[in-house]
Amino acid sequence: MEPAATDCELVESIGGLDRLLAGPRRRGSRIGFVPTLGGLHGGHGSLIETARRDNDIVVVSVFLNPTQFEDPRDLARYPRDLAADRSFTARAGADVMFAPSVEEVYPGGPGIVTVDPGVLGSVFEGAARPGHFRGVATVVTKLLAIVSPSSAYFGEKDYQQLVIVRQLVADLSLPVGIVACPTVRDPDGLAVSTRNAFLGPEERRAATVLHRALRAGKDAVRAGTSDANAIEEAMRATAEAESAVALEYASVVADGRLEPLSTVAGDVALLIAARVGAVRLIDNLRVVR
Ligand code: PAF
Repeated sequence: MEPAATDCELVESIGGLDRLLAGPRRRGSRIGFVPTLGGLHGGHGSLIETARRDNDIVVVSVFLNPTQFEDPRDLARYPRDLAADRSFTARAGADVMFAPSVEEVYPGGPGIVTVDPGVLGSVFEGAARPGHFRGVATVVTKLLAIVSPSSAYFGEKDYQQLVIVRQLVADLSLPVGIVACPTVRDPDGLAVSTRNAFLGPEERRAATVLHRALRAGKDAVRAGTSDANAIEEAMRATAEAESAVALEYASVVADGRLEPLSTVAGDVALLIAARVGAVRLIDNLRVVR
């Protein structure tokens, strides 16, 4: 049975959000914040539920941030359905849905000052999508300044984004806790993602190889393989056996970091990216030893 919808206030301006949160802020209430691009799905639901458990007030932002889309076609086809997102946030238990316009967040256009994630933003996804993480780091910094939450919730599914957000909060001394939430998967292992909606039935089946490749890498780590190349080869061999999938990278890094490893010691994260037809998918798996 679907959980009952709570009241979820829709706020579209920064001033309106300030007025709504003034009382809770004065009373010292804990404010949990879940930033999203919209197109909400079960992955976002789990972030909202975790924020609900930890906080007095839960704010979800639905803002399709143009500055993190380097490909205009990707931005154009991103789902936009505010009514569906609002009933989703209400059912998931949020109190406020903050859905500002582009002009509200970037009055006068994208700013002159941006947040540069440095080398963290130019590897893996950053190499495939130049400028993407500058857009993410800038909008996350702006949203954290606007909402001023006690804690903000991010999915482990976007591993590199999480590493960058943790680093930016540390380096810019932002007074917010960053909470990482586990990846939500369909029963066949495919990580839940807004992009899955663009997969045809055969592509949807083929896409499950990403999770199988990560598991092959995990099995190699668990079997005691310490050569990072051998672990990556185990992932590659599994992914490349699926002809409908064009592998972009399969890599092993130290958990919480992004530098390539040659020898594995300690906890690691396995990262994978591939194209399935026209859809680019990413996934990852942490192996804690
Ligand atoms: O992960 C996302 O949905 C976006 O990158 C975020 C964090 C909401 C910033 O626009």
